[in-house]
Amino acid sequence: MWASYGFLADIPFIAPIASKEAGDIDLLWWFLCAVSLVMTVLIFIGVIGFAFRYRKKEGVAPVPVHGSNVLEITWSIIPFLVMLVMFWWGTDLFFAAETPPKDAMEIFVVGKQWMWKVQYPDGNREINALHVPIGKAVKLTMASEDVIHSFSMPAFRVRHDVVPGHYDSLWFRATQTGHYRIYCTEYCGARHSQMVGWVDVLDETEYGKWASGGGSGGTLAEQGQQLFTQNGCSTCHLLNEQGRCPILKGLYNKPVQLNDGRTVIADDAYLRESILQPNAKIVNGFEANVMPNFQGQLSEENVIQLIAYIKSLATPAAAPTQSAGQPAAAPVGAARKAGAAGKQ
Ligand code: CUA
Repeated sequence: MWASYGFLADIPFIAPIASKEAGDIDLLWWFLCAVSLVMTVLIFIGVIGFAFRYRKKEGVAPVPVHGSNVLEITWSIIPFLVMLVMFWWGTDLFFAAETPPKDAMEIFVVGKQWMWKVQYPDGNREINALHVPIGKAVKLTMASEDVIHSFSMPAFRVRHDVVPGHYDSLWFRATQTGHYRIYCTEYCGARHSQMVGWVDVLDETEYGKWASGGGSGGTLAEQGQQLFTQNGCSTCHLLNEQGRCPILKGLYNKPVQLNDGRTVIADDAYLRESILQPNAKIVNGFEANVMPNFQGQLSEENVIQLIAYIKSLATPAAAPTQSAGQPAAAPVGAARKAGAAGKQ
């Protein structure tokens, strides 16, 4: 009878540690456990000890107890300092987890009832599987096609909700090769429990071999270029001259001036919104209602391909200026306006 419960032996009660960050997070977790244990023991010893010491005795009248400032201050300050340590430690780990390194390689994940679809910049695609090289920071940019999912990889102690309508991201750097689990950790419908997969951490050579196949439909950017032509985008967004819609060359991660006076950065979120709901933000000097809404026409995977194409149009020399704090060139809308004024 008990033989049928043998699977219990396969359930790891502590997930494997496959990144440095996973070890760091575990250390904080053990610290929280230790503090909780010490406090629990102290409180129970106090409760039981005082219950005996001050129990009702025949013929002894209770003595009134007066407060002690020293005691009050001590038991306020010590827990406060311990809490501050927890706060500082947790915040430190939180910011590290929320800030992907600049050189992180980007992989795209789309959650859909009930699977994870993975797209690589070189055009490789997978379902419910992820392949990453050891020692390299990997940033996952994630979108949902339908409901809220949550992408979780316990071996790296990372998890992030994937909410429809925008991009979510997480990053990790594997330090152990191996085969680790991927879960969906947000109830998302009937087959939520089957929305699982595996991440394979490969060493440099193995990863090279795995990736060498490439995508059958070209790189992600090439797939995007195809969509760009198929959907007629190329008739208005001309490559080298001003059409009815803004030029997209060199646009990625650059400031864009809008017709309401705001300046926004043309990042993934902006590009996604401008593809699906073009009227949400109109570039200065352009008209609304020129471009059709692609909401419902394009899948999240298509949008990722289009964004990869727009990224590939960025002029390489002017790309990495984000951290320097000064915009590399005049905002897109401003350039158009200046150009238009010059012509008159
Ligand atoms: Cu997707 Cu649960």
